[in-house]
Amino acid sequence: MSEHDTPVAIITGASRGLGRALAEGLAGAGWRLVIDARTADALAEARWNLPSGTVAIAGDVTDPAHRAALIAAADDAGRLDLLVNNAGILGPSPQPGVADYPLAALREVYEVNVVAPLALAQLALPALTARAGALVMVTSDAAVEPYPGWGGYGSAKAALEQLTRVLAAELTESGWGGPRVWAVDPGDLRTRMHQEAFPGEDISDRPEPESVVPAFLRLLATRPPSGRIRLAEVFAAEVAR
Ligand SMILES: NC(=O)c1ccc[n+]([C@@H]2O[C@H](COP(=O)([O-])OP(=O)(O)OC[C@H]3O[C@@H](n4cnc5c(N)ncnc54)[C@H](OP(=O)(O)O)[C@@H]3O)[C@@H](O)[C@H]2O)c1
Repeated sequence: MSEHDTPVAIITGASRGLGRALAEGLAGAGWRLVIDARTADALAEARWNLPSGTVAIAGDVTDPAHRAALIAAADDAGRLDLLVNNAGILGPSPQPGVADYPLAALREVYEVNVVAPLALAQLALPALTARAGALVMVTSDAAVEPYPGWGGYGSAKAALEQLTRVLAAELTESGWGGPRVWAVDPGDLRTRMHQEAFPGEDISDRPEPESVVPAFLRLLATRPPSGRIRLAEVFAAEVAR
């Protein structure tokens, strides 16, 4: 098989946590990858465990030039089949209540968790449409449940989910038949962000991010209609098969 026959994915925030686990899982399934994170050393360390063709670009998803560089790397690879908008931030830890939420911090949470993924998706859509690929926006149950203390992060994920739903409806209406557009809820995972959400608490009972990789690969293989996807349900359906 030539290099151009293998699918290409951009995964943001792949230096640790869920993004790193998905990158390793997709690489193991034969995908070529473009990955990023802000911290160059941690990204280089993650890149070390991935195949030699992996392109790692250190940068911030809120930076338009960095987003353009990610898309350019996929162009160089000759195709783009999947964008995983995984990079995200929690905001202040411990998380402030809505009544006291510092507005500058809220703007940053929205820039990273809503505006940047939309902007990258806008750049990626022509290539994803050409391949009938998939756009994944990583979301959270905090987008739909009014957990006290989760107003900043949760409302950002809610906005991301609604953008995802409307985009999916617009693509369907336009008759493009193009990419799947999924808001993917991975469930609670033992990561740095999760520890920030529960400062000082023991989170060792939460599953490792690698545990959701089989369900994610199953999602890509089965291509359900665009919409909200809970990886726990994909996993349960797989087990019941
Ligand atoms: N962990 C959970 O329980 C859980 C549950 C539901 C949903 N999620 C979602 O899953 C995704 C991954 O979360 P995680 O728990 O794996 O978090 P994490 O361990 O904190 O990892 C976040 C990744 O994103 C990168 N990142 C953060 N801000 C960035 C920016 N502005 N530009 C580029 N890269 C950036 C980080 O690297 P740098 O800091 O070096 O940039 C890191 O690689 C997030 O969207 C999160 O909301 C997580």
